[in-house]
Amino acid sequence: MPKVLVATVKPFAPAAVNQIREIIEKAGYEFALLEKYGSQGDLIAAVADADALIIRSDKVDSEVINAAGKLKIVVRAGAGYDNIDLEAASGKGVVAMNTPGQNSNAVAELAQGMMVFMARNQFNGTSGTELSGKTLGIHAYGYVGKLVAKIARGFDMDVYAFDPYIDREVIEGDGVTCLDSAEALYSTCQYISLHIPANDETRGSINHELMSVMPEGAVLVNTARKEVIDEDSLEKIFAGRPDFRYVSDIAPDNAVQLKEAYADRCFFTPKKMGAQTSEANINAGVAAANQIEAFLETGDTTFQVNK
Ligand code: 3PG
Repeated sequence: MPKVLVATVKPFAPAAVNQIREIIEKAGYEFALLEKYGSQGDLIAAVADADALIIRSDKVDSEVINAAGKLKIVVRAGAGYDNIDLEAASGKGVVAMNTPGQNSNAVAELAQGMMVFMARNQFNGTSGTELSGKTLGIHAYGYVGKLVAKIARGFDMDVYAFDPYIDREVIEGDGVTCLDSAEALYSTCQYISLHIPANDETRGSINHELMSVMPEGAVLVNTARKEVIDEDSLEKIFAGRPDFRYVSDIAPDNAVQLKEAYADRCFFTPKKMGAQTSEANINAGVAAANQIEAFLETGDTTFQVNK
């Protein structure tokens, strides 16, 4: 009987766990749960006899892959798979998948909520501004970016996007103005919402050059990954531009210094919470369980990311 391990430092909502368990047990597999584990060693020990693994932002590095002698498939219940060592997985013949789109609405709602939060001065009671009529630049027009555009248009924002991997027609079909470069996006938009993955191309790419061309009252919203921001640039822009604000679902490494110096211009969630809704947990968790069953039963590799 194949064993499916759900290993999440940040647990799914109980309803999601129940639904995952149901799918796994109905398929005739053994279900195992490792939540809120304290160290990487706990994960390494737990994967020893697992045939399949469901994770969130949990780190599946070469040590985990090597310790998982029976592992055939790892599914990241979510979008970004920068936490999986794909080379190590491929080297051991382990299929890695994500569940694209399944938690996007939760992240998009948070991004819009963060814009409101900053426009209203972090709800501190002082007079803020409105989002209506303001320019919003969506950096990467994937599942989340597309939903942010939809929500922001409901707020009557003037929405722009830059994504070299998405056809202009797709972007413009949503009533969003497609721009041809990141520079054009940042120099046009007061609000920028980041939806790029963390990879070799994007790490540290949001730099001083881009931040400094944002119009007066700049608000940078990051529900993507902290690694895409160049943190030295962030310090420099905060020091040089008293109007610049940064709100992020992932605290930067220099969060303490930034908070101390610029508390009213930055905010960081204590824990990544973009996908922390019951609905997103159910959608992504159930998709992961179904993908594992389809793979184990029929060899279905749709959503494989290490081809
Ligand atoms: C994702 O990549 O899907 C999001 O960043 C959510 O990550 P999480 O499952 O760790 O909350």
